[in-house]
This record gives sequence, C-alpha cells and structure tokens, in this order.
Amino acid sequence: MGGPISINFGKTIGGHRGQEEIWNDDHRFIDMMMGRRWGKDWIASKKTLKNIYQRDFLSIKDQEIKCSMRRNMPRLLYWCVAPDYALCRIQIKKLFEVLPDSLIQYDGSRASQPFLWLYPEIKLEFKSAEKPERLVGEGINGLYITETARLKKNVWNDNLRPTLADKKGWGLFTTTPLGRNWYIDEIRSLAEPGEHHDPEWIAYYGKTIENTKNPNLIDEVNKAKKSMPKKYFLRNYEACPDAFQGQIYDEFSYDKHVQDFEINLDNYKVIIGGQDWGYTHHGGFVIIGITNDDAVDVLEEYTQDRIPVVSENEHQDTWVKRAKEAEEKYGTELFYCGPDQPVYIAAYREAGIDATAANNSVHAGIQTISTLMHIDENGHTQFRIHKTNCKRLAKYLPAYSWREARDGEMSEEPAKVNDDECDMLRYAVYSAARKWFRYLPEQRNQHREAA
Ligand SMILES: Nc1ncnc2c1ncn2[C@@H]1O[C@H](COP(=O)(O)OP(=O)(O)OP(=O)(O)O)[C@@H](O)[C@H]1O
Ligand SMILES: [Mg+2]
Repeated sequence: MGGPISINFGKTIGGHRGQEEIWNDDHRFIDMMMGRRWGKDWIASKKTLKNIYQRDFLSIKDQEIKCSMRRNMPRLLYWCVAPDYALCRIQIKKLFEVLPDSLIQYDGSRASQPFLWLYPEIKLEFKSAEKPERLVGEGINGLYITETARLKKNVWNDNLRPTLADKKGWGLFTTTPLGRNWYIDEIRSLAEPGEHHDPEWIAYYGKTIENTKNPNLIDEVNKAKKSMPKKYFLRNYEACPDAFQGQIYDEFSYDKHVQDFEINLDNYKVIIGGQDWGYTHHGGFVIIGITNDDAVDVLEEYTQDRIPVVSENEHQDTWVKRAKEAEEKYGTELFYCGPDQPVYIAAYREAGIDATAANNSVHAGIQTISTLMHIDENGHTQFRIHKTNCKRLAKYLPAYSWREARDGEMSEEPAKVNDDECDMLRYAVYSAARKWFRYLPEQRNQHREAA
C-alpha cells in the first residue's frame, strides 16, 4: 500500500506461533481466551489494523463515499471496547505500540471519550463499557473488545452485537477467563466446536507459557506454579474457566493443616483476634498467631449462637467477656472485627479491648489464606489450625465453596453458607497480614526476585 498508508501485511509479523496463526486467520469473529501476558492484545491490535486496511479498506477504496473528518463522517468506523476506563487506557496504549505514526490523521486519544482518525478518514472510537447506555451509535465496521469476560452481562447482546449488524462488521475478542460466566455462554460457545458453534466464529486458546517472545516469562510461570494456589495459577496462566468451582480452599488437607501442636506463645511475633458478629446466626472469633516466618497458626476459636456483645446483666455471657478472656489467655494485640457493625466495635473499645474494623477484601483475603495453605513440593505449609481448639473451623473450611453461577453472573463469589468461621479467619489473617507480614504472600515472588 503506498502513500501515507504503508503497512506490512505479509504472512509473518514476528509473533510467536499462536500469534502468527491468528494473524493469518480470516474468520469474521475471532475469540482469544488466553493466560495473562500471552500477547493477546498485541496480536489483537495488529489484527485490528489488518482488518481495517486489508479486509475493509481495500474493498471500498475505489467507491465514491461522502466522508470527511471535519464533519465527523468517517469512511469506516470502529470501536475498541474495554470493561472500564483503566482498561480502556491500556487498550489505547497497546494499540499505539503497534500503530505506525504515519497512519495517524488526528490523535484524540487523550479526550474524555477517546478517538483516533487514521488515514484516510477512518475513525476508531475507544469505549469504556462501564456505562452501557452510552454504547449507542450507528452501525460500525468492526469491534475489538479487550478483557471481554469482565464486561457486564448483556452488554454484548444488547449494546455491542447489534451495532455490527448493518455493515456485517467483524469482531476480535481477547480475555483471560473469569469463571464460567456469560462470556463462556454467549461468546465462547459460538466460537468453540459444539452444538452452539457458528461457522463465522473461531476460538483460540493459549497458555502464558506459549509466549516465547518474552524470555523472562517461562521462569516467571514456573515460579508462580510453585508458589501460587492452584486455582489462581490455572485461571491466570492456563486460561482455565473452571478454576473457581466447588471448594474455595481446595488445597485444605485435614492431615496437613489440622494438628494438636503445642501452643507456645513465644513462637509468635504477634497474636490477633478476628471477630465475625452474629446474633441470629453464628458469631465468634478466632485467635491466630503469626510466626517470624509469616506462617499462621490458628490457636483457638470462640463461637456461640445468640449472645450479645455487651449486657447490663453481669451474669450474662457476652462477646466482651469472651474477648477479654482470650485477651488474658493469649495476650492478643488487636481484634479485627467485621466492619458491618461499627457500634459493636465501639462497644469493644469502650470495654478496653483493642478492636478495629477488619479489611473486608474478600478475594484478596481468600488468596492470602489459600497461599498460606499451599503445600509445597517438600510437603510444607504455612498454615495450621489447632485440632482440639478449632473443631468448627476444621469442619467448615473445607465446606466453604464458590457460589454457583446463575444467569451468567460472576461465579467467583463465595456462597453465603458455612461462611461465618471462614469470615472470622479471613478478617484476622488478611488484616494482620497487611500489617505484620513482611510481604503479602502474593508479593513474595517479586520481592525474592528483586533481592
Ligand atoms: N510478538 C511479540 N513481540 C514482541 N513483544 C510482544 C509480542 N507479543 C507481545 N509482546 C509484548 O509482551 C507484553 C504482553 O503482551 P500483551 O499486553 O499483548 O499481553 P496480554 O496477553 O494482553 O497480557 P495481559 O493479560 O497482561 O493483558 C507486551 O509488553 C507486548 O508488547
Ligand atoms: Mg491484555
């Protein structure tokens, strides 16, 4: 192609094997479900340009089309869509990595609703799908969606797909999976062989390790495999949509994690309580000790139905009494408490118990505990619970499970049953980890590497 539009559409583009294959694939819809860092947005950006200039532009370039940038009447119009604004900025950056400057007619990528004009009179609009009602417009010639599985349900069918109908536009989709959510049902199943397969679609699948263009990646993946809980590894590096199903703490082993160890308070750099409030359902707290190596021992659980936090009646059993008892026995530094009841936290403080709201980041908390629980190749783990003192926890930890996906909702949410003991543990461990661990488990690799 001559003039300002000089772009190489040869058979190879210096990609790894999977990228080259996608480069040469002419399907109208290409779905790419890959592990992190596979290079999916690199190839999707290149492919977007190829689709624009080779698939679309060549077929219309001799037609008389009334168009002009000044009147905002593009010859061809495309959308690049991301689930939120931050991912939208990344998508723009990726596109710029592969876009020759000579193709840019006008750069509006820093506008609040970013766009680009490419020669000659071709417009790309960048859209964040956070507010789907804004995804309206006339027919477009093609669409590139990044991190597709993170889009809200219905955005594809209600807002995006219809815009392609008029002009028989094409679609490129990249993502790491996010459980078995709407994306699997409504996009992936069209692309994969099976009863819903549509011949206009094709599915590509890839593991992070296939990106041979990044020499550090193999080492990084091997390290992650050793140190990461299995399900996080499977999802992020092997693009497995079923990683988050069933049991949450799937590496929990009664033999390894539940023991009658001798409790010696000198072994711990700090001892912490984690309280989940509950009057009609189970309430309680766990006491954990953190060792100098950032391992966690759960020393005792205190659980009880239907007791109040405080009472006028001095004979009544209360959480304040229990917490004081535990404070005396273990020398607890602090109680991390369910943040849903600030009044109860205040009542603890009034009674002289050091208490504060726990960090309630569910995923980060689960990931921290899963990582501690991980059993390494030598059979070591950094998590134990005391067999005699923590019978309920030993029973409910393995029962704690992911909510089943219904109506294509995200399935990466814990089910709200058997969760009281697990919440207590999460409050204590995750909040304490943020304050007293040298590194959060998920950051350890990076620190090891930097050292
Ligand atoms: N064929 C290639 N040649 C050179 N660099 C590449 C190639 N493919 C990818 N890269 C680079 O590797 C990095 C990861 O690529 P990219 O961002 O496309 O991966 P991704 O699969 O979208 O990752 P993430 O899951 O983090 O979004 C980027 O810095 C990109 O520029
Ligand atoms: Mg990406």
